[in-house]
Amino acid sequence: MKLLVVGGGGREHAIIKALKKNKDITEIFALPGNGGIAQDATCVNIGAKDLDKIVEFAVNNKIDYAVVAPDDPLVLGLVDLLNEKGIPCFGPTKAAAIIEGSKAFSKDLMKKYNIPTAKYETFNDMEKAIAYLDTQTAPIVIKADGLALGKGVIIAQTIAEAKDAVKSMMEDKIFGKSGDNIVIEEFLEGPEVSVLAFTDGKVVKPMVSSMDHKRAHDNDEGLNTGGMGTIAPNPYYTKDIADVCMKEIFLPTINAMNKEGRTFKGCLYFGLMITKDGPKVIEYNCRFGDPETQVVLPLLESDLFTIMKATTEGTLENTEVKFMDKSACCVVMASNGYPQHYEKGFKITISKDIQDKVYVAGASLNDKNELVTSGGRVLGAVDIANTLADAIKKAYSLVEKIHFDNAYYRKDIGARALKAGK
Ligand code: AMP
Ligand code: GLY
Repeated sequence: MKLLVVGGGGREHAIIKALKKNKDITEIFALPGNGGIAQDATCVNIGAKDLDKIVEFAVNNKIDYAVVAPDDPLVLGLVDLLNEKGIPCFGPTKAAAIIEGSKAFSKDLMKKYNIPTAKYETFNDMEKAIAYLDTQTAPIVIKADGLALGKGVIIAQTIAEAKDAVKSMMEDKIFGKSGDNIVIEEFLEGPEVSVLAFTDGKVVKPMVSSMDHKRAHDNDEGLNTGGMGTIAPNPYYTKDIADVCMKEIFLPTINAMNKEGRTFKGCLYFGLMITKDGPKVIEYNCRFGDPETQVVLPLLESDLFTIMKATTEGTLENTEVKFMDKSACCVVMASNGYPQHYEKGFKITISKDIQDKVYVAGASLNDKNELVTSGGRVLGAVDIANTLADAIKKAYSLVEKIHFDNAYYRKDIGARALKAGK
């Protein structure tokens, strides 16, 4: 079978490495892929948002199955376009991807179906938003409605700061059209847990839980990033909490999407906050998380491709989704300066014996076929072990065997989880 994977980050590298374990797959094309993915798949220089070219490529190359990994093409409707050409896909249709594409939609969905989340109001009028803030207390959270590369969220410590945030989104348009509508919501406290779940629109099979580290620097300081590292499983996600989540959040969400005529198939990502009043949804993503996928898929014992096909065909109930009873850690090595300005083009050396444990994100091949840095998050070093402590140690020993100029990484990935687990 010939597969196409849309995307070109560490997440896609992890997906491709897991897919390759299936012997029915003869060829994988990555669009656009990256310099590291090129070791595992045939990279084709078509961008993930270039929908027409992707469809044309898929048809011309007789692709049997497509995996659409990033948010943009999902929200833009790539799955619908490929389906129209008779190509089955892993991922939601445009109608269902709105669960990530519009925060106003997802908040209204949760309100309508009693799914626990932070209290909120939505606004498309700046004056009304400012007037509302005068009735609230800080800290308070301001979110741009549309996709903003994970950066459209401002946690304001004072009401004055919140008003500035509203103005920057609605008047100065710092997130472009994403700021036409905004959500103002209650600040929630508690540990965060990411749960990715496979669903065929009928049943939900959650994957092992994980914990992202979103801030750039140690001790959760610095700017928000796409994610500087992950561990799995997340010790805050106990069996009891998992049961509550299934009953109050996961199944109600799938049922709500069905009732809205927006059946969700693929991977639904639940960003949860475990508050003192129980778990609440911070956000939904319509896709695998990055870098959550880099710790979740290496722990998957069942065959990824079989599960993906089952989500498409509606047979997930009878398909095994089994994870190892082990822990994983991913340390992201970034270009110094990320998520702001950074230099690129530095040669990356990875010792031969650990290549399998490196998930490449922002790197390309130069004209000498050498791997060089080309993005903010360059790669993730991932290892697994029987205990979380050992997985962390092993991931950091991999980091020592990887070199490039201006490399930056957090030294405390998993530290908080380790404390919580004791
Ligand atoms: P989001 O893009 O919605 O995931 O938000 C990015 C990050 O902002 C989350 O991972 C949380 O750490 C934080 N955040 C978002 N909403 C809230 C909230 N209501 N209360 C506290 N923190 C939040
Ligand atoms: N790591 C968070 C995300 O993928 O959105």
